[in-house]
Amino acid sequence: MPFSSRQRIHLYLLGLLLFGSLASAMKTEDFKTCSQSGFCQRNRLYADDAAALGDAFRSPYAVDADSLHLSLEDTAHITADIINKNADKRFTMALTFLQDNTVRVQMNEKDPLHPRFDAHAAHTLVKAPVAQAPQAVDRTQDNQVTMILDASRKVIVTLEPVKVDFLVNDASVITLNDRGFFNFEHLRTKESHKPKMIQQQNDDGTLEDVQHAAEDTMWEETFKSWTDPKPNGPESIALDISFNGFSHVYGIPEHASTLSLKETRGGDNAYTEPYRLYNTDVFEYALDSPTSLYGAIPFMTAHRKDLSAGIFWMNPSETWIDIVKTKSSKNSLAKLLDFGKKEVTTTQTHWMSEAGVLDLFVFLGPTAKDVLRQYTSLTGTPALPQQFAIGYHQCRWNYINQKDVLEVDQKFDEFEMPYDVIWLDIEYTVEKKYFTWDNTKFPDPIAMEKQLDDKGRQLVAIVDPHIKRADDFPVFEVANKDHYFVQKPTGGDYEGWCWPGQSSWPDFFDPKVCQWWQSLFAFDKFVGTRENVHIWHDMNEPSIFNGPEITMQKEMIHHGNWEHRNLHNLYGLLSFAATSEGVRTRTKVPKRPFVLSRSFYAGAQRYGAVWTGDNMADWDSLAMSMPMILSSGLGGMPFNGADVPGFFGNPGPELLARWYQTGVFQPFFRGHAHIDTKRREPYLVDEPYRSITRKALRTRYALLPYWYTLFYDAFKTGTPMMRPMFMEFPQEEQIFAMEDQFMVGDSILVKPITTEQTTSTDVYFPGEQPWYDLETYQPIYHHGYRTVDAPLEKIPAYYRGGRIIPRRERPRRSSAAMALDPFTLMIALDKKSNAEGTLYLDDGESYDYEAGTFAHTHFVYNKGILTCDSLHADGASAGAQAFAKKMSSVRVERLVLMGTHRQPNRVQLLTKQTTLDLAFSYHEAVSSLEIRDPAVSVVECDWTIRFDF
Ligand code: NOJ
Repeated sequence: MPFSSRQRIHLYLLGLLLFGSLASAMKTEDFKTCSQSGFCQRNRLYADDAAALGDAFRSPYAVDADSLHLSLEDTAHITADIINKNADKRFTMALTFLQDNTVRVQMNEKDPLHPRFDAHAAHTLVKAPVAQAPQAVDRTQDNQVTMILDASRKVIVTLEPVKVDFLVNDASVITLNDRGFFNFEHLRTKESHKPKMIQQQNDDGTLEDVQHAAEDTMWEETFKSWTDPKPNGPESIALDISFNGFSHVYGIPEHASTLSLKETRGGDNAYTEPYRLYNTDVFEYALDSPTSLYGAIPFMTAHRKDLSAGIFWMNPSETWIDIVKTKSSKNSLAKLLDFGKKEVTTTQTHWMSEAGVLDLFVFLGPTAKDVLRQYTSLTGTPALPQQFAIGYHQCRWNYINQKDVLEVDQKFDEFEMPYDVIWLDIEYTVEKKYFTWDNTKFPDPIAMEKQLDDKGRQLVAIVDPHIKRADDFPVFEVANKDHYFVQKPTGGDYEGWCWPGQSSWPDFFDPKVCQWWQSLFAFDKFVGTRENVHIWHDMNEPSIFNGPEITMQKEMIHHGNWEHRNLHNLYGLLSFAATSEGVRTRTKVPKRPFVLSRSFYAGAQRYGAVWTGDNMADWDSLAMSMPMILSSGLGGMPFNGADVPGFFGNPGPELLARWYQTGVFQPFFRGHAHIDTKRREPYLVDEPYRSITRKALRTRYALLPYWYTLFYDAFKTGTPMMRPMFMEFPQEEQIFAMEDQFMVGDSILVKPITTEQTTSTDVYFPGEQPWYDLETYQPIYHHGYRTVDAPLEKIPAYYRGGRIIPRRERPRRSSAAMALDPFTLMIALDKKSNAEGTLYLDDGESYDYEAGTFAHTHFVYNKGILTCDSLHADGASAGAQAFAKKMSSVRVERLVLMGTHRQPNRVQLLTKQTTLDLAFSYHEAVSSLEIRDPAVSVVECDWTIRFDF
């Protein structure tokens, strides 16, 4: 009798355990430390040697003044050769001045032995950056070139030793090679290499010349049972970057670490390892750790009261980042900062990448939102998802068959819980051969999908990038025949183990492989799918159970003869992009794709959503979801979420309820569970937890108009939907590291409860405006910490005074069912009794918004008068008009004015045709006023509502 899939997995896990190569529990020893990763060790040693020499150390890198070329008018760049005087090697440097306070710094080897990998930009950037010439150049100093960008910004290149300073108001805010750790390992042959020697004292006191420890890993390195043959020898690039006067740096997802990144060397509470960026599938990953996880975005932002600035280290090879914080006296440039007597902290970072070229962008803000705009204008803004994608998703490994899927669907209705999408994990396939259906379990997938569709619901099916090597599998046959797989250095397909057993991995670096992959999502190829089926793309780090660090050997070969080492962190992005493009183009008229990817790199925001991977169903993991998603947003990848209520383990009902309450306020909201866990669909828990969870789901649906507007804003500007507190209140130093509360957009503050049996919590209320309880509308006139009640049924969440927030209150079963529902406008008054807010609406699925088919309305409450204006009025395209017409029947059915201390004499609706008195009720206890059914349009701003107090 054949084994069931479940049995096969267990046999497989058992087999791997016997052979001892799969991480079947969190094993830190499966992943390298810096000292086990040759180039990281070499560059840390380089830094240590430099630091040990102190003032006697001088970086050997200098600009060759004769080679300096300034070309301001046309291309706005400086080029020069840099010489490594110790090695007598030349490098090219180019500084390009770009629009919007951005500068690009590129360095490559001059005349390398063979080309270095520099094909990353085409996959990472959305367009060629636009240059903008500096205003002037100052060459009056011998050892310096000063580029004056504008009235407040300058770039100073010091020639020897080479150093680049970025100045704002005459103070250096970012310095490259501040500490002289710049180290560009040139390509060499083993024969020509002269090992670095040092003197070592023997026990008997004699001195002996021995090789420097950095030599050990130049030509070959071993890790556990693997040997990396490193045919190209050393080729790393490292640079130190100081953020002068900044005590906080953020970003570089993905780590299960703090929002404000920790020190990694010395310091109190510091990690001992650098933050690592190397996409890996870490089983039961540790919390509060700089270990690399599934995704890698080498983009960091620094923030202080008056300024935010950032850097994007565009290199997709394995990368490590050391962080230390020093006081001003240690850093000469920090002295330039005018902070009076106050101690100035500078954050010094040290970036180390294994291969490629140096390609760095510096963003000078001045705000954190500006830095994100600058970054996403290069790497792309987050795609606008289909409306359903921001509803609730119900997943589990696995819904076992068609009946199971339809029963779960039915139960949500029975228990009156809204949801939009049900998911199928790997067991729906025949032996994990993706693009196939196990018809014994799913006899008629199309019929099942139609049934879901009838309720406006969607199905997501998983398709991983590992392809089972099986002769009866057409996808394999084609890829094998046409050489679409990543190759071994000796030729032939690379093979490894994953869910299906022996597998190979498509080489997504090859454009023709991407085209082929995309074609597989056509409805006639992926038979059994239709338009309401979307894709989950998992294990694309790539996860390889019997590979070093559970991934691909670095010496494997991609299209163009590039070693995997060069582009490891790009692999997940490329497979994500190809999958997304396949889904986008499977219909005659392309539709916005929905793809969830586990792995990502800079630019992934253009292709869909990601999640924080295999978390645990415990309280600490719930708390960790916040800094992880916030850091992802600061990395330009805001459509992120954590498995609710934790993937591994069986959550108690309290944790489940608290996690659902939190998920409501996080961008990607999906329930998911490991195959060995007990069933835990939200309707299965007992009361009162079931009702609490139902209430949470309904809150999410009520806020969908606000969420969708935030997704639109992110698509336009790069500003994340879920924001760290400091992004909205950049002046309040006490919240710069705050990660246990956050903002959804600029209008809602949330403080999830992440500890057991908690009934109250301290919330920090920033700003001078009042806040209003999301449920009771009770105003809070307080600046700073305040203890608030948080019984089980309540998550502390507040509207910000001065904002208008759109909601839809009617409980429905899915977002599709809400398309023509009326709106409620929550008007949260500021101290001057003003408020404003926006609402974005479109058809929720097509690209017609690109041609103007959308409505974008701005609501303003000022001096007792509520009006609106169309933000899309300018281009009142035919599409916009048609859409407005379609939506004109959609009305506002309720207004809530929060923070009004008197009851009005009358409230009137004024239109061209009529003046109407509107009914209202005043709730003195919470100072709120409710107006029932003003029946005004949210897209045609031909009305005014007047409140006479
Ligand atoms: C690993 C993913 O992280 C998890 O979410 C999924 O359930 C399993 N792979 C099985 O596909």
